[in-house]
Amino acid sequence: MAVVEIKENVFWVGAIDWNKRDFHGYSQTKEGTTYNAYLVIDEKITLFDCVDEKFKWDLYHQIASLVPLEKIDYIVVNHVEMDHSGALPFIVDKAKPEKIFCSPMGKEFIQAHFHPRNWPLEVVKTGDELILGKNKVQFLEARMLHWPDSMFSYLPELKLLISNDAFGQNIASNLLFDDQHPLEDILQEAKHYYANIILPFSPLVKKTLNKVEELGLEIEMIAPDHGLIWRSHVKDILGLYGEMSEQKLKPKAVIVYDTMWSSTEKMAKAIGEGLNLEGIEIKLMHLKKFHHSDVMGEVMDAAAVICGSPTHNNNMLPLMADFLTYMKGLRPSNRLGATFGSYGWSGEAPKLMQKVLEEANFELPFEPLRIRFVPEHDSLAKCKELGLNLGKKIKEKF
Ligand code: FEO
Repeated sequence: MAVVEIKENVFWVGAIDWNKRDFHGYSQTKEGTTYNAYLVIDEKITLFDCVDEKFKWDLYHQIASLVPLEKIDYIVVNHVEMDHSGALPFIVDKAKPEKIFCSPMGKEFIQAHFHPRNWPLEVVKTGDELILGKNKVQFLEARMLHWPDSMFSYLPELKLLISNDAFGQNIASNLLFDDQHPLEDILQEAKHYYANIILPFSPLVKKTLNKVEELGLEIEMIAPDHGLIWRSHVKDILGLYGEMSEQKLKPKAVIVYDTMWSSTEKMAKAIGEGLNLEGIEIKLMHLKKFHHSDVMGEVMDAAAVICGSPTHNNNMLPLMADFLTYMKGLRPSNRLGATFGSYGWSGEAPKLMQKVLEEANFELPFEPLRIRFVPEHDSLAKCKELGLNLGKKIKEKF
């Protein structure tokens, strides 16, 4: 794809990965992604971030269409994860930059990833400035957004924030700007991305947003390293991050389940009926139909997560174990939980799921609900009652 000038003398030189479908367990089944890198042409020609190693030649050709690589003076590494640094050794080799800037942790991580010899690494911290010519860069460490090394680069003359993973979305498109797509769709993707990548670090997101405010950074454009560039909806994405970092919830319950002979599915529907009668928004998500990252997208603003699995070999079904492990790692907080499932003779699954939810700090007001083999009218009534009672508990939260 051709380079795009996103601001005066600032060029998008990244790559589009149309076929990306999995990112450490996060499924991008709809949209692929982009690895955005930016080249600033000034007295000091500076490259901000690189791309996945598989796309190193894309990056090379993008840059070479503007300037020969050996003209690059500086490289800024905002984050060392391989989707942004995989091509770094190749580019360093071609460009032989005068300096490579990174955070303190970034230096450690670069050394542990690439074991470089004689790279001109220079550590920068929050508040440090780098003069490029007409432009300067102010650095802001953004720890855990999404790794401990992450940082933002702010160009005050252009009111441009290069934000790395933060404010990203997994969208693959040659139309690089937010106003070239329906806002609702982009915000949905940004939310999905946050739920699966950023959620565990929500307190630090809040801290970073506060720091941006405290520094009085005027932001006209946010250029993340994944997906679209925010130029018309900067306030919308900052507002959404503010809300998500506080984990603002709504009266909504996600009923996530797997089933063998449909008994647990019948229970899921009856619990949903009870919640529905209390006026709660529900999402029923069968784990054989929904990827765990899609379920997390719904958990993001749900006040309750209700997990169902039949007992199989004295355990829960494997897809439920997978989902619970994934969700626990993402640390959603301040939510209600409940468990249910059918069983034949031993019936451990609901208790085991309850234990995981307890370890994940869910509030669990009710005992696990177990029904033997196939539920009939009376046992479905118990499921409905669980839904009604949970619905009441959810309403108490609002
Ligand atoms: Fe897009 Fe944390 O890497």
